[in-house]
Amino acid sequence: MFVVVGVSGGIAAYKAVQLVRLFVRGGHDVHVVPTDDALRFVGIPTWEAISRNPVTTSVHDDVASVRHVALGQSADLVVVAPATANTLAKMAAGLAGDLLGTTLLATTAPVVVAPAMHTEMWRHPATTANVRTLRERGVHIVGPADGELTGGDSGPGRMSEPDDILAAALAVAAPRTDLAGMTVVVSAGGTREPIDPVRFLGNRSSGRQGVAVALAAADRGAQVVLIAAHVDEGVLAEASAHRRLRVQHAGTAQELQDAVTAAAESADVVVMAAAVADYRVAEVSPAKLTKESAAGAGLTLELVENADIVAGLARDAPAGRTVVAFAAETPQEGETLVERARRKALRKGVDLLAANEVGWDKGFEGAENALVFVDGRGVVRGESAGTKREVAEALWDAVIAVRRDTRATPEKA
Ligand code: CTP
Repeated sequence: MFVVVGVSGGIAAYKAVQLVRLFVRGGHDVHVVPTDDALRFVGIPTWEAISRNPVTTSVHDDVASVRHVALGQSADLVVVAPATANTLAKMAAGLAGDLLGTTLLATTAPVVVAPAMHTEMWRHPATTANVRTLRERGVHIVGPADGELTGGDSGPGRMSEPDDILAAALAVAAPRTDLAGMTVVVSAGGTREPIDPVRFLGNRSSGRQGVAVALAAADRGAQVVLIAAHVDEGVLAEASAHRRLRVQHAGTAQELQDAVTAAAESADVVVMAAAVADYRVAEVSPAKLTKESAAGAGLTLELVENADIVAGLARDAPAGRTVVAFAAETPQEGETLVERARRKALRKGVDLLAANEVGWDKGFEGAENALVFVDGRGVVRGESAGTKREVAEALWDAVIAVRRDTRATPEKA
């Protein structure tokens, strides 16, 4: 493929070097078009060496070959990474003051954009409006991710990882459609069980893995209902904008159960990636609990067990519906993750279980994950490590394989 990679002037430009390398490694003919500002971060020799093609920023270079439109006309795919707030604004306005601007106006190829900026700039109404305009024109926005930003800040605005941008860009250029025609329900995030009007029992799930599973399915052609339990708007942004994806919100385990059960009725696959509270408070206090009312006697909360939603879904699933559970495990000495996953898959009666190891510093807020897939008979169906998007793609590969087997041996359905 003839790929144009536009680079604008943000610190994330250094990560775009890796993106260019990944495209080149994939056998693509890559032409980098940096803005002048981008060159303050990474210089022309680097871009030329990595892309193996000449690089220029100006519409006045190489005029004889009409370079200002030739790149855009030849492109099969244009990726802008990082896209600063300034570049997004210029794109939305259709400005053509440099080679990247003319290339973007001259192309009819799919355009994929990976924004990178500080959270305040990302959330500014001007940027929001520009992104909306670009989306309406069919531009695909990847990220930004939520995480560490330059200067020690943290929040949505970080450029997505090069692997994720590559995967999204390739999906846009040559979409996989192996889930087309399927309806999929994915739960994500973590439920919160109220104690009183201001407090809750919760967990550390960010919802990123579930959202990645939902997005991967939508990109592969499925109609997706994403049921989100306390997932940050920043994490949900890309999913909310996807035309094959509908987001519904749920707060408690009971609300999640109601939403998932209703949506599952018409689903071919249900993936329970949400971390559901196993217990809720027996009696939610209508007023805020105070130390005064406890009168120095401490506080004991009575907890009652919530229904196991995924086990219920698996039990009630008609033939043809695949139910997938997640399991976050902390294996103790003498047992492996796979052994625990196997036990849980059998106990819950699910068709597939995706297990990962978690700990105090492992498996939650990060961009990466490692999963092992075990089917309903306890057979390991593969494993995957990488970005949450990559392991999400592997999960769908495993789901497709399990569904194929089930069809081949209908008596086990
Ligand atoms: N799950 C669910 N309903 C619950 C609890 C969990 O549907 N009340 C689902 C989760 O969405 C996930 C899977 O079950 O897909 C694994 O949850 P986990 O908490 O690991 O399972 P438990 O049965 O609670 O096992 P453990 O005793 O190890 O916590």
